[in-house]
Amino acid sequence: MRIAFGDLKIGDTARKYVQDALDRNWISEGTNVREFEQKFAAKFGYKHAIAASSGTDADIVACASLYDFGAKRGDEIIVPACSFVSTANSILAAGFVPKFVDIKVETLNIDPDKIEAAITDKTRAIMVVHTMGKPCEMDTIMEIAGKYNLRVIEDSCEAHGATYKGQGVGTIGDMGTFSFYAAHVVVAGEGGMVVTGDDELVEILKSVKSHGRPFGSIYFNFQRIGFNARMNELTAAIGLEGIELFDSSFAKRKDNLYKLLELTEELSDYLHFLKEESYEKVSPHAFPLVLKDKKHDCAKLYKYLEEKGIQSKTLFGSLPTQHDAFKFLNYEYGQFPSSEYVGENGLHFGMHQYLNDDDLTYISETLKSYFK
Ligand SMILES: Cc1ncc(COP(=O)(O)O)c(C=O)c1O
Repeated sequence: MRIAFGDLKIGDTARKYVQDALDRNWISEGTNVREFEQKFAAKFGYKHAIAASSGTDADIVACASLYDFGAKRGDEIIVPACSFVSTANSILAAGFVPKFVDIKVETLNIDPDKIEAAITDKTRAIMVVHTMGKPCEMDTIMEIAGKYNLRVIEDSCEAHGATYKGQGVGTIGDMGTFSFYAAHVVVAGEGGMVVTGDDELVEILKSVKSHGRPFGSIYFNFQRIGFNARMNELTAAIGLEGIELFDSSFAKRKDNLYKLLELTEELSDYLHFLKEESYEKVSPHAFPLVLKDKKHDCAKLYKYLEEKGIQSKTLFGSLPTQHDAFKFLNYEYGQFPSSEYVGENGLHFGMHQYLNDDDLTYISETLKSYFK
């Protein structure tokens, strides 16, 4: 038995679009990418969707657009201490400083009550992350952003199709970002997207992702600091199929998520599980779990799952205090207790559409056998 984190099967639609690009002898951003942007926006109700070469690049481009609104190099962007590393890396790559805020163990999302204490004169934006497809507490976050005049970037890379109080993630703040890396709900292999409802941001985002010149221009007329974050035609080809498959993938993954939550319910004395509130729609990105008591030894559980063929990963942990890469920012272990706890006691594994009932039973029985 091998339960992989994710799986990608490439079908006829993707092949048709790949072939089309090959026939046109054009792999760089072109008509496939335009169609992918249009269909992604239409599918999820975004006003504008701007493709990028990865979710990380989407985050970088979103951050770098802030310079057009008065942000200066070295200004700060608030970000959860515990998330996939792309968030803090992108803030740094765009020339800003990540200002970390602890998360809540129960939601795995930024703790809104701790945001205000992290705001300084240099704060320009809050980057929230809808971790494991669970929307952040956006009402409070938007209220704080309004009070301090901060932009909000919703990293929705793990939250395709999630909604908060009826609004799609990515439409609540100023910008939303997505990743189409393998194992996400819409998969393109690689690739990312920035979405926005703000007309003023569109040309800026397009320019930043293409070296800082007016998008579409081939002339060397650089107006702002930019990057090459363009998507290519082959990635868009796979992504176009991902959009076509979204409804069935989402439904199957959600069904799997609910089934596994039900099958493992008796372990709730041992584990925090993902919880969906009535006002939100969680996107079935993966299946996170956090030990309620560290005595159950997460490293041992990880090894046990691995031996039983279930591929799992940690829940990222505290970037500033549990990852050497951010040591230079001089945070100290203990500053982000919930993120650190989750880093030491949390795991997540795949919840993809190719898992069947037997797989789910196997996963739940394996978890039960560990705790019994
Ligand atoms: C929260 C979050 N942000 C950003 C990314 C980066 O996406 P990519 O791997 O496409 O660069 C990921 C990756 O899964 C992610 O989980």
